[in-house]
Amino acid sequence: MKKTTLAICMALVLSACSKDESQTEASTASATKETEAKTVESAMPPAATKPHAAASASDKEALIAEAKGAVMALGGSLKKELQGAMMSGGPVAALDVCVEKAPAITKQISEEKNLEIGRVSLKNRNSGNAANEWQTAVLNDFETRKAGGEDAGKLAYAETVDIDGKKEFRFMKAIPTGNLCLTCHGDIVPENVVAKLKEHYPEDKATGFKEGDLRGAFYVVKPL
Ligand code: HEC
Repeated sequence: MKKTTLAICMALVLSACSKDESQTEASTASATKETEAKTVESAMPPAATKPHAAASASDKEALIAEAKGAVMALGGSLKKELQGAMMSGGPVAALDVCVEKAPAITKQISEEKNLEIGRVSLKNRNSGNAANEWQTAVLNDFETRKAGGEDAGKLAYAETVDIDGKKEFRFMKAIPTGNLCLTCHGDIVPENVVAKLKEHYPEDKATGFKEGDLRGAFYVVKPL
């Protein structure tokens, strides 16, 4: 592997030199260094060189970027479905979309991205979205950070943990309550929506939120 990379570097260096004969020796030398560094980087992606290594700073950055991408994909499609349904059929129709589609979209993105993803809350509507122990701790921490003045939309958490010798990467991103959310999560929920909510979620805890409150968070778990 090393020999091949070196050979590719040399070939590139040589072709670069032969193409640009007008350069002075000094600038050619620095250009050579740059070419070499770039080639080594692109020839050896971190995943190929150390698949199971402990998370270094750059591994962690890559995992965070991957988790953020998955969260954006999930958040984006949920919002699109919700807004579309609210506009075309109003809250009761939108409720049907949330009931049916939210779990289906979540499952689909989890499979597509090959990681565990979902939404949790301290005051959950769907009993399947109750926060577990570590998620509860993070959600409580988000509340403290928000009370301390941090922007709710930017609250995030990332950690690699070792559980009985098995490493996993954990990520969470806060979900603030927007104005659009109040119809189904606010203080005053329309009668017909309340009736439907009771039917589907007899133990619903997800009302009484105000704009800006933390509604919950996305989470991502990836075994390493
Ligand atoms: C039309 C009604 C409706 C609207 C509007 C709505 N939701 Fe929900 N929300 C639901 C339903 C139904 C569920 C349960 C769906 C499921 O099984 O994941 C839910 C679940 C959630 C959950 C998962 C945790 C839990 O309580 O089960 C979060 C987080 C959430 N909603 C945030 C929001 C945010 C943020 C907005 C505004 C952008 C919003 N919702 C707007 C109906 C709604």
